[in-house]
Amino acid sequence: MTVGLSASPPTTNHRLVEWVESVAALCKPDRIRWCDGSQEEYDALCQQMVDSGTFIRLNPEKRPDSYLCRSDASDVARVEDRTFICSLRREDAGPSNNWVAPAAMKSTLTSLFDGSMSGRTMYVIPFSMGPIGSPISQIGVEITDSPYVVVSMRIMTRIGAAVLDALGNGEFVQAMHSVGMPLAPGQADVPWPCDPVNKYIVHFPEERSIWSYGSGYGGNALLGKKCFALRIASVMGRDEGWMAEHMLILGVESPAGQKTYVAAAFPSACGKTNFAMLIPPASMPGWKVTTIGDDIAWIKPGTDGRLYAINPENGFFGVAPGTSVQSNPNAMASIRANTIFTNVALTPDGDIWWEGMTEEEPASLIDWTGREWTPGCGRKAAHPNARFTAPTRQCPVLDPRWEDPQGVPISAFIFGGRRSTSIPLVFQSFSWTHGVYLAATMGSETTAAAVGTVGTVRRDPMAMLPFCGYHMADYFHHWLTMGREVLSPPRIFHVNWFRKDGQGEFLWPGFGDNMRVLAWIVERVHGRGHAVESPLGWMPRHQDLDWAGLDMPFARFDELMAVDRDLWRQEVASQDDLFFQLDDRLPKELACERQLLVSRLWRSPTVWHQAPAIPE
Ligand code: OXD
Ligand code: MN
Repeated sequence: MTVGLSASPPTTNHRLVEWVESVAALCKPDRIRWCDGSQEEYDALCQQMVDSGTFIRLNPEKRPDSYLCRSDASDVARVEDRTFICSLRREDAGPSNNWVAPAAMKSTLTSLFDGSMSGRTMYVIPFSMGPIGSPISQIGVEITDSPYVVVSMRIMTRIGAAVLDALGNGEFVQAMHSVGMPLAPGQADVPWPCDPVNKYIVHFPEERSIWSYGSGYGGNALLGKKCFALRIASVMGRDEGWMAEHMLILGVESPAGQKTYVAAAFPSACGKTNFAMLIPPASMPGWKVTTIGDDIAWIKPGTDGRLYAINPENGFFGVAPGTSVQSNPNAMASIRANTIFTNVALTPDGDIWWEGMTEEEPASLIDWTGREWTPGCGRKAAHPNARFTAPTRQCPVLDPRWEDPQGVPISAFIFGGRRSTSIPLVFQSFSWTHGVYLAATMGSETTAAAVGTVGTVRRDPMAMLPFCGYHMADYFHHWLTMGREVLSPPRIFHVNWFRKDGQGEFLWPGFGDNMRVLAWIVERVHGRGHAVESPLGWMPRHQDLDWAGLDMPFARFDELMAVDRDLWRQEVASQDDLFFQLDDRLPKELACERQLLVSRLWRSPTVWHQAPAIPE
């Protein structure tokens, strides 16, 4: 519904109406539109963006109801150095977050937002994170001047009239966004408006509000995702006794028909979407994986003493490059239609392409910047952080309980990073506290999902470093408390799919073969899988994993699992960088776990090896 500035809004929620009026008074849009979330509204906005040159409609025969969008070359990723947690007290944001005093930040933002929407429409998007009405779900309202944000939010969350009904006169998270490019009368728009200089992604945790200025890119502009579902929700979870985690959720069915749910945290662009949609190898008949979510989990204790998780999202915002029929056929099927592609290449027949999608590169393309592209021209056809935005319900292996309002019971948490050395394929923590230590010290070689240097190891506790809305050490406390308070906490595992041999080749095939590791994890949580004690945790022996259909001689497995004391000496020393920063609030338990690890390493051989299998 498009209304003039004074027309009546479709809600009686006074707080909402007053807030919308105050934002309109500040941002001075030409029009206000309350989004109803209908298909007609979505189609009309997409058509409007085709007409304005923001969207290119893809070939309807190849990619029905799908669009290509090219962002400004300066606006292609999350901007962690422009992301702020403006808690009342600086120490509550902690050393890993940028902080500015809320009043000072509000004053900066108020000047930037003043008149920032003139010449544009201001959209009001009521959205639910999680199935509408679930006791674990939360409602937010995003105000934006970007139609790209509206259509993306309709895919990524549940939006519109049904959310307003569920909200009634209740509380909601305020999320305001402007691309930061007001239009003077008669000024022509550009396909991707943004502010190339000033960007601010700001969270006020006590107020539960978000202000985002200057970027149209997903993680900075679709405020339900990283800003609400992780940064603000992590604070809500701390205060209310639940958890907002950067985790995929999947279901595993064993050949005996037993269903187990696990949640897994990997830093950005480590193959979370691939793992969430894993297809077990044909040589492991009877194992089945079903998807609940690929990025975020909200987790609450149930009355039976277990932790229950929902996926608060409604869509996939996946990294496109590397996704192929070989690497992730379920993702390829999920994006067959009704998908928005951002910063991928365009084929001559109106379809999309990116590096790694096919073995052979197309003879010619239009690249993500709109220029002619041919193989060997020296440029990437798609931006390394190019994305697809697609409805979760299009995933062919969706779990039947993916929208269960109660969530699903989680039996295991799996943590992992991208590490070419030191970290074994899989091990299990000795206890919950040890598991929290493993998760708190995990690291990963960096990728293109965030602006920064690619390839160096960055400590990324629980894959939450850029997403925790409060002091990291308090977050570790919260994890320890959750484990103490629930009767049957999930078992905790650490995995690494990315270890390389001396020649720089991956030792582990990954993808579907990760099922072998997952099957062991599932057996362990049900008290069946065997393991031996290593300096790092419980480890499967060669004979404890299912190798049917994969050539994995003992020596290669041993190379994947060995624990090299010198490398671990460096590893423990580099963990200290993070612990040192957090020292004044670091839980004592973690320092003790570190000490226990050091002493286990100290009394183990220079290189700890698996004992060869004893023939039965
Ligand atoms: C994401 C990220 O986009 O983690 O999911 O960066
Ligand atoms: Mn993510």
